[in-house]
Amino acid sequence: MITFDGVTVRFQDFEALPSFSLRVEEGEFFTLLGPSGCGKTTALRALAGFVGLSAGDIAVAGRKITHLPSGRREVGMVFQNYALFPGMSVRENIAFGLRVRKRPAEEVDRRVGEIAEQVDLSPEQLAKGVAELSGGQQQRVAIARALVMRPKVLLLDEPLSNLDAKLRRQLRGQLKELQSQFGITTLYVTHDQEEALSMSDRIAVLNRGRIEQVGTPEEVYDRSASEFVCTFIGEVNKLSPHLVGALAAHGERGLDPARPSYARIEKISLLPDGRAATGLPVRATVTSRTYHGLHSVYRLRTEHDSLRIVLKEGDGPRLRTGQEVVADIDPASVLQYPGAA
Ligand SMILES: Nc1ncnc2c1ncn2[C@@H]1O[C@H](COP(=O)(O)OP(=O)(O)OP(=O)(O)O)[C@@H](O)[C@H]1O
Ligand SMILES: [Mg+2]
Repeated sequence: MITFDGVTVRFQDFEALPSFSLRVEEGEFFTLLGPSGCGKTTALRALAGFVGLSAGDIAVAGRKITHLPSGRREVGMVFQNYALFPGMSVRENIAFGLRVRKRPAEEVDRRVGEIAEQVDLSPEQLAKGVAELSGGQQQRVAIARALVMRPKVLLLDEPLSNLDAKLRRQLRGQLKELQSQFGITTLYVTHDQEEALSMSDRIAVLNRGRIEQVGTPEEVYDRSASEFVCTFIGEVNKLSPHLVGALAAHGERGLDPARPSYARIEKISLLPDGRAATGLPVRATVTSRTYHGLHSVYRLRTEHDSLRIVLKEGDGPRLRTGQEVVADIDPASVLQYPGAA
């Protein structure tokens, strides 16, 4: 549905996107995930036609759009900061694009009414000025304004980043529902890994303008293709060469102690008294606990490592600082990468 083929974007002598290639399928909710400055917004702006390419091509629905002006690309974009027109009412904001296209007044009214209902904006809210709305409501106006044009693809640039944590979680669900209801191919941008994992059909992880991995949320999480992806997504323990050596001797896997090695914090368990380990048993002392409501994260000191593990609250007694425990580490869960440890 969307293809980037060797797309290069330069700002003076800085290559923000060096030869970027990507394919997004019809109806997919596809996320570009990466740290600040890695080129996510630049990729969306290239697709929307707000920034020129130095090389490469972009196609939507089989049609090359590289040289089409922005207004003819049938791409709807919701920006990082909504970018609504502050002096206009909600209704006027949503109707703006249709008015520019000189659609008849009754068609504009009908389409604005329909889309407002779908994104849960009431007739009273339509009459308000945008400044009178909350952040979450403004975000829905921005989405309605993009959807009312019936774009072939919807581009969302961190649309939830200005909202508080609770509203963000709530709107994630609504946004995802709206997307599947419309079946619209969506390219979503975020630096929030939790958002990416929970909403996406597939994710591309970006690092300095380059794609490190493309895959489903489970693939990028469980089988991170590079050290960058492994440490950017989720929470990991970096393992000492000493511990990796012991794991190598214990398991069937050819783990190399000289390479960078990681274990996700939820993959390490504690061995209940008298039970045999499924992986390598490692003696440890509890050094701290951080409470998160549903779970706690404990820090353990072993002979050569400091390891974090996560335990669900209510599953067995709480650990005390100073308590002696035995961690159970499965060599199969270790993620290992090229390079030096
Ligand atoms: N108009 C511009 N002129 C010069 N450099 C730019 C311009 N726009 C972006 N850049 C640079 O290109 C790189 C990528 O920027 P981009 O805005 O795409 O990052 P991003 O991944 O969206 O980051 P964030 O998560 O902070 O929004 C950055 O180093 C940025 O400084
Ligand atoms: Mg950005």
